[in-house]
Amino acid sequence: MLVSSLVSFATLWSSSVCAILAKSPSPTRTCTIAPLGSGRDDTSQVLGAIARCGHGGHTVLRKGIYNITRKMTWDLVDSKVDLFGHLSFTPDIDYWLNATNTYRVVFIQNQASWFVVTGKNWEVDGHGVGGIQGNGQPWWEYFTSHAKADGDGRPISLTVYRAEHGIIRDFAIEAPPFWCNTVADSKSVIYDGMRCNASNANPAFAGTNIVPNTDGINTYRSDDIALMNWDVTCGDDCLAIKGNSTNVVARNVMCRGGNGIAFGSLGQYANLSDIVENVLLENIELHRIDPSVQPNMQNGVYFKSWTGSVNGVPPTGGGGGTGFVKNITAKNVFLDGVNLPIHLYQTNGGHSIDLPSNLTFGELRFENWTGNALGNKIVDIECSVAVGCADIRFADFDVSGPAGQAPSFICKNVQGLTGLDVPCNATGAP
Ligand SMILES: *[C@@H]1O[C@H](CO)[C@@H](O)[C@H](O)[C@H]1NC(C)=O
Ligand SMILES: *[C@@H]1O[C@H](CO)[C@@H](O)[C@H](O)[C@H]1NC(C)=O
Ligand SMILES: *[C@@H]1O[C@H](CO)[C@@H](O)[C@H](O)[C@H]1NC(C)=O
Ligand SMILES: *[C@@H]1O[C@H](CO)[C@@H](O)[C@H](O)[C@H]1NC(C)=O
Ligand SMILES: *[C@@H]1O[C@H](CO)[C@@H](O)[C@H](O)[C@H]1NC(C)=O
Ligand SMILES: *[C@@H]1O[C@H](CO)[C@@H](O)[C@H](O)[C@H]1NC(C)=O
Ligand SMILES: *[C@@H]1O[C@H](CO)[C@@H](O)[C@H](O)[C@H]1NC(C)=O
Ligand SMILES: *[C@@H]1O[C@H](CO)[C@@H](O)[C@H](O)[C@H]1NC(C)=O
Ligand SMILES: *[C@@H]1O[C@H](CO)[C@@H](O)[C@H](O)[C@H]1NC(C)=O
Repeated sequence: MLVSSLVSFATLWSSSVCAILAKSPSPTRTCTIAPLGSGRDDTSQVLGAIARCGHGGHTVLRKGIYNITRKMTWDLVDSKVDLFGHLSFTPDIDYWLNATNTYRVVFIQNQASWFVVTGKNWEVDGHGVGGIQGNGQPWWEYFTSHAKADGDGRPISLTVYRAEHGIIRDFAIEAPPFWCNTVADSKSVIYDGMRCNASNANPAFAGTNIVPNTDGINTYRSDDIALMNWDVTCGDDCLAIKGNSTNVVARNVMCRGGNGIAFGSLGQYANLSDIVENVLLENIELHRIDPSVQPNMQNGVYFKSWTGSVNGVPPTGGGGGTGFVKNITAKNVFLDGVNLPIHLYQTNGGHSIDLPSNLTFGELRFENWTGNALGNKIVDIECSVAVGCADIRFADFDVSGPAGQAPSFICKNVQGLTGLDVPCNATGAP
């Protein structure tokens, strides 16, 4: 069942009052390695160091490029890893797309992973210089002429799976082919300092978004997660909070380009309910960047569920799932040129004849928003006619549209909306 904030490692830690809770493990053994050099394969020596020092020890990867050629799991228990170099995953697209060569531990949409960190009471520190080189450029180009779909095997760069009391610190992920991060089936994980950068560098693709699905993170089936000090340049969701993410705080997040911060998509699996509860987004900026690098800057914060009908099966189809999203706060948000600051829709992947979704959104708070939208539509909240949304509160919401155009605020099937100084159109509250 849902765990309340009784023993809330990550979210307490993030309020800094309780920083002492996040004491690093005190390791004994140390394993230190350096890259073998050009043309050599580092996978075995990295796995060897983790095997020797990953339980109760300290592993140091000196600076340089580690050539990683096959899937890799770090099982860490009472352990620290200092990563001063880059784990560089070979851009052998055919190899990685072969399902036998990646893990499929992330249940949702059957997504693939090439690197999994698991275990208990660990810390992985990139010291602001180390992390992952995803070598995404050839991947992005490959998929401009090949069909892509959820679950097609494009690997998540860093997957934290079945982890408890883990810390990822000052870590960078360059050129992720697909999602930059995922945390799944985990509890009490802190990311403090995460940079993800998916930027096309080939002038032939200037002005097009060839980096779809490079989400900063997807959280799934995880409780007590802190995302502190993030800087994400991508062509998709900056953060995506998916089903059964509870007690999540994201603070000091810079989103450069992409689709904005997503809750969802939810309700894709007809046999599962998606619960998202107690999420705080605080000190968030979303900036449109040079359109030749990334033309997309779609939303500020948005919410999406599939319809009530089942249209095919996951990973690519779905719908009909239930659940709820509640107690969500997005405060101190600054927008620079987003298309649509706040959007909620429950028709993802559906058709107009579909049954309305039964997944409910409520207790949504938007506080202290400033900045500007590109279009005149500022808020578009379209809740399911079957269940509606309840209790949506705005405070100090001051986002402007283009000069000389009347701003538009759309609300459908919403009960109990307060705090906007213009009326929000409501049609047919349930
Ligand atoms: C990585 O290792 C593979 C296998 O040994 C090798 O073929 C490849 O050239 C190496 N890559 C780099 C960049 O060193
Ligand atoms: C995937 O890799 C396995 C193991 O190397 C191999 O047997 C299989 O033929 C490969 N599949 C494809 C479609 O290449
Ligand atoms: C992202 O990478 C691109 C290309 O390498 C670089 O120009 C840009 O400055 C990087 N962005 C950030 C925020 O580091
Ligand atoms: C729910 O359905 C998915 C397929 O859509 C299946 O993989 C999964 O095992 C099912 N889960 C349960 C709890 O029945
Ligand atoms: C979420 O948690 C609820 C309650 O524990 C469970 O019934 C549901 O299947 C979970 N959903 C997913 C997507 O795991
Ligand atoms: C609502 O979520 C916040 C985190 O944003 C949490 O501090 C608070 O305790 C939650 N409220 C309830 C009633 O659970
Ligand atoms: C939504 O819930 C209502 C009431 O329980 C039920 O009658 C309806 O069939 C549900 N809709 C879907 C799409 O499951
Ligand atoms: C509102 O948010 C901005 C950042 O967007 C911040 O600088 C300012 O201090 C916040 N105001 C209050 C009263 O918290
Ligand atoms: C409300 O809806 C009417 C009719 O669609 C439209 O003319 C008006 O601009 C809307 N008002 C707002 C505040 O969005």
